[in-house]
Amino acid sequence: MSEVTAIAHPNFALVKYWGKADSISNKPAMSSISLTVDSLTSTTNISINVGSTENIWMLNGKEQNDLARISPVLNYLNNISRNNYGCIIKSENNFLTSAGLASSASGIASLVIAYNQFFKLNMSFDQLVEASMIGSGSAPRSLLSGFVILNVEDQVTTRTILEPDEWPLSIIICITDEKEKIVSSREGMEISRKTSPLYQSWLDSNKEDIQIAKSAIAEKNLRRLGEVAEKNCYMMHEVMKTSSPKISYMTKSTNKCIKEIKKIRQDGTDLFFTVDAGPQVKIVCKTGDRDLIKTKFSNKSYITKIMEANIGLGARVIHED
Ligand code: PMV
Repeated sequence: MSEVTAIAHPNFALVKYWGKADSISNKPAMSSISLTVDSLTSTTNISINVGSTENIWMLNGKEQNDLARISPVLNYLNNISRNNYGCIIKSENNFLTSAGLASSASGIASLVIAYNQFFKLNMSFDQLVEASMIGSGSAPRSLLSGFVILNVEDQVTTRTILEPDEWPLSIIICITDEKEKIVSSREGMEISRKTSPLYQSWLDSNKEDIQIAKSAIAEKNLRRLGEVAEKNCYMMHEVMKTSSPKISYMTKSTNKCIKEIKKIRQDGTDLFFTVDAGPQVKIVCKTGDRDLIKTKFSNKSYITKIMEANIGLGARVIHED
């Protein structure tokens, strides 16, 4: 085989993780629930770097001098494949990279799936999870479709709770700032774990938030899911803000966007928001309400771009030669 290409979509957490239990395996300190987003894609193509044992990584067409973000994953995979080849890894995102849209989750998941196929490793699902997690704590969730739970209570387990066609919702992504984030999630989480006075109560509230979100998803109750997702999102950002140094991903534009969402809800449309490690706002709504909600944001000066998506599939191979 001369090359393999795999695709993965980012996932947005509704019950979030912010804090690691272990910095080597990268295991999150708390469980999380996400939804995989279909129209945003990361693709990774792997081929052999003929005549060399060196790995080359191109991200969005640019050769990367520093492979630190992917080398722990490559080390894990090389240990299984025991090959002596260098690889050429070409990753492309069709959306903003490192701006709070989970590009690391989809990028890593697509890399793991492409590598597994290229070297015919037949890795078990648990190994795929472990390999992805080393690269990004949220990447295992991008391996799967629909609503996904990453449970870390005893052993790590990752599974789909509901498939995309079982509860077809839409996601509107309001981009408020296209710059790359200054504090990476990995650094930020470590700062919060060590310094935020709210970190322990954030950990303690995880079990209940997971339970509520799970039952809201089982009931397909958008309002209940929205309540717990927004509460969880606010709490994560409070943990960030009370860290030392303070971490702020939400901006004035993020808050203006949230204010508008609350107004639309007061006017009778069911929708909720979530915000991750960046200033962009993700809105979850019924597919039938999507166009109406989009028009409410179409002329807002604090939004630079609006993207839309439905709930998507897990990481998969799309081409081999
Ligand atoms: O481990 P990372 O870099 O994928 O961190 C993800 C952090 C959040 O997006 C803020 C929360 C989450 O659970 O996705």
